[in-house]
Amino acid sequence: MKTSAKKAAQILRRATPLRPTLAIVLGSGFGSVLDRVEVVARLAYSKLPGFPLASIAGHSGEAVLGKLGGVPVLILSGRAHYYEGHELARVTFPIRVLAECGIKSLLLTNAAGGINRTFHPGDFMRLTDHINFIGTNPLRGPAAADCERFIDLTQVYDPILAKLLHRAARHAGAKLRAGVYLAVSGPSYETPAEIRAFARLGADAVGMSTVPEAIVARQCGLRVVGLSCITNAAAGRSSHPLSHVEVLAAGQAAGQQAWQLLENFATLYAKTETD
Ligand code: HPA
Repeated sequence: MKTSAKKAAQILRRATPLRPTLAIVLGSGFGSVLDRVEVVARLAYSKLPGFPLASIAGHSGEAVLGKLGGVPVLILSGRAHYYEGHELARVTFPIRVLAECGIKSLLLTNAAGGINRTFHPGDFMRLTDHINFIGTNPLRGPAAADCERFIDLTQVYDPILAKLLHRAARHAGAKLRAGVYLAVSGPSYETPAEIRAFARLGADAVGMSTVPEAIVARQCGLRVVGLSCITNAAAGRSSHPLSHVEVLAAGQAAGQQAWQLLENFATLYAKTETD
């Protein structure tokens, strides 16, 4: 795993002398951020050995090196999901590549359904913590050499990066809530009974990604910040059925605030790095 992560990292590093320490994974709802990037190099996932190919509409699947708000960033646009049939080790392989590339901080974004009744479509939510309800763990399997086996997850999401995200949202005029993200395997959406159960477990939003990546990122020693775009009220929380089209449309509508938020975050991140 480590060897192939090194191989893919080498390809990325050879593409440009730019050496970002911040990486961003763009989930549905955050694709417009790519239009704001001053692109220096872009590589389709198919050119990066070991990368799972993203097959879902709204997830294109490429690694982009460039500048966002003048700040060097490595962007993974599109991600593979467990529900597509990949093992979690494969879904999270790109995170190991980021670590090999010298990335220190990782912003994970996603689209999520709002469980908390005070959350509305178009709101953003910073992840304060997560609940892994996928039913498996990305670290399951043979122990990776020179990686810790039992990872402490007391504080998955970095408090300093969290503060930056709130400042970034304020400057963007975006409504940023904070809450617990619960990850399910999908691809079916939840039943209203499941959503009621998840609310009792302490979840504020539900989605099908991010948690495996956050766990692997912590194993690799990356600082992590998580950001959801609330694209819909979770099942049973509104009067109409859920659809992927609705999720994508809400994500698109939030597009401008999404890129402003991320651009501001990159700028603030660069400032703290040089302080
Ligand atoms: N459930 C699960 N995943 C999601 C949802 C949802 O309601 N909205 C966006 N991703």
